[in-house]
Amino acid sequence: MHLERLLQQQGFGARKMCRGLVRQGRFALAGVAIDDPFFEITPEEGLVFTVDGVDWPYAEKAVILLNKPAGYECSQSPRHHPGIDALLPSPLVTRGLQSIGRLDEDTTGLLLLTDNGNLIHALSSPKRKVEKRYRVTARHPLDAAQLAALRAGVTLRDAPQPAKAAAVEQVDAHTLLLGLTEGRYHQVKRMLAAVGNRVEALRRVAIGGLRLPDDLPEGQWRWLAASDLELVWRKTA
Ligand code: URA
Repeated sequence: MHLERLLQQQGFGARKMCRGLVRQGRFALAGVAIDDPFFEITPEEGLVFTVDGVDWPYAEKAVILLNKPAGYECSQSPRHHPGIDALLPSPLVTRGLQSIGRLDEDTTGLLLLTDNGNLIHALSSPKRKVEKRYRVTARHPLDAAQLAALRAGVTLRDAPQPAKAAAVEQVDAHTLLLGLTEGRYHQVKRMLAAVGNRVEALRRVAIGGLRLPDDLPEGQWRWLAASDLELVWRKTA
C-alpha cells in the first residue's frame, strides 16, 4: 500500500494532506525519515510508525481506553460541555471513534472507544451480560436495607422491569461498588434515588474483567491491546 494511503486510513487527513505531511519529512519508520508518499508499506498489526515525533501503532480498527474526567459529554454533538473528542488526538477523531456506551457528563472513569462497529454492537448488547462496575459515593450513609433493595431489584419510574444490581459490595459508610449488566439511562443514579439515597460521585472502575488502570490519570487515554480487550468478556475480578 502507498504510504499516503496508509496515513489517510489511519486518520491523518485527506490523501493530499498526507502526501504533504510525508513530503515535509514529518514521517519516519524505525527512526528513518521517509519523504516519498508512494513508498510501499505493508499495513499489519505490529507496525509502528512515527509522525511529528509521535509513535503510532498501525491499527486496522482502533480501540482505546480513556479515563474520562468530569465535565465532558459522551456525545458527537455535545450541548453543554465539551465532548470527549476534545481529549483525543486528531487522527483518532478523524477516524470517527465512538464511545461504547455512555457515561454522564459528571461520571468519571473507564470508557472504551472504537471505530469497530461490530465491537460496539457486541459490547452494548444486554444479552452478553458484560458487567460494568461503578464506585459510587453516596450522600447519606448506606444501610443494610438499601443494599438489600439494590440486590433484590428496585422499581424505576417509566420502567416495568425492576433494575437489579449484579453485584453490591460496601466499601465504607458512604461508598459502594455496584455491578450492572444492563445500561439504562442514568441507571446508577436512579437506583440510588429509588432506595432513598443520592449519588454524589460516580466512577466506572471495570468493564467485565478489564479494570481502569491505576496509573492512567483522568483525561488520559491509551491503546488497548487485543489481549486487554479479551478481559472484557471475563467476569469482573
Ligand atoms: N449510571 C449513571 O447513572 N450514570 C452513568 O454515567 C453511568 C451509569
